[in-house]
Amino acid sequence: MTLDLPVLEEPATVELTDVVRTYSGATGGVRALDGVSARFEAGVFTVVAGPSGSGKSTLLRVAALLDKPQEGLVGFNGRDVTRTSARRRRALRRRHIGYMFQQPADNLLDYLDAREHVRLGGRLRAKTGGDVNAGAVDTLQFLGLADRLTHRPVQLSGGEQQRLAFAFAVAGGPQLLVADEPTAALDHAAGARVLEALVALARRGLTVVASSHDPVVIEAADRVVRITHGRVEGV
Ligand SMILES: Nc1ncnc2c1ncn2[C@@H]1O[C@H](COP(=O)(O)OP(=O)(O)OP(=O)(O)O)[C@@H](O)[C@H]1O
Ligand SMILES: [Mg+2]
Repeated sequence: MTLDLPVLEEPATVELTDVVRTYSGATGGVRALDGVSARFEAGVFTVVAGPSGSGKSTLLRVAALLDKPQEGLVGFNGRDVTRTSARRRRALRRRHIGYMFQQPADNLLDYLDAREHVRLGGRLRAKTGGDVNAGAVDTLQFLGLADRLTHRPVQLSGGEQQRLAFAFAVAGGPQLLVADEPTAALDHAAGARVLEALVALARRGLTVVASSHDPVVIEAADRVVRITHGRVEGV
């Protein structure tokens, strides 16, 4: 079975320049990103790799406009969005960015079944034409969830939740897909399907960014950004 994803948007470019993101804590601050510069471009599948605690999730959240750095600049499609209002950033995310949180359940809404999730994803990205539902169900089928269409998250396994989260993130065709360890909860076969979809999206011109520890995912990347202690190696 081949994957027919509805990618309709123009792809995005995200550029981080000298980004610093610190977290304050009782025992002192943590510099989760310590002067990170990175550029994510159309048609490129980038994998952010690094040890646990190195700043991967923080980097992905900043790149997806979910989090703001204390220092540095974040550019989205050539515009500086570092000081853009929370409301405007939320609108940009809804319309243009598909995001997968590291914990599968964090991506999903308790009261929606699998099919309703992908319909919602399509509606949030406000696609016209009637084909969004069909494309989304195809994605669920491709990911092996054809017989889980009417299951709600609580009725799905962790790996099924992660696959649904992927389908939700790509429904309706975002410009940018950012996925935090998208295969971590999956077995080999399901992980291979998600990886195939990530590569296919990039080949169609989408901007794709994923974090991963998995050598198979890293091997499939067009570009690998290695991060250690909040710093990108080799920059
Ligand atoms: N909300 C927070 N408050 C305080 N410190 C935080 C917070 N979130 C992350 N950190 C710290 O920032 C650093 C980077 O965290 P991050 O989650 O980005 O790492 P990661 O590379 O994604 O790790 P993992 O592979 O375990 O998911 C860690 O040292 C972490 O303890
Ligand atoms: Mg993480």
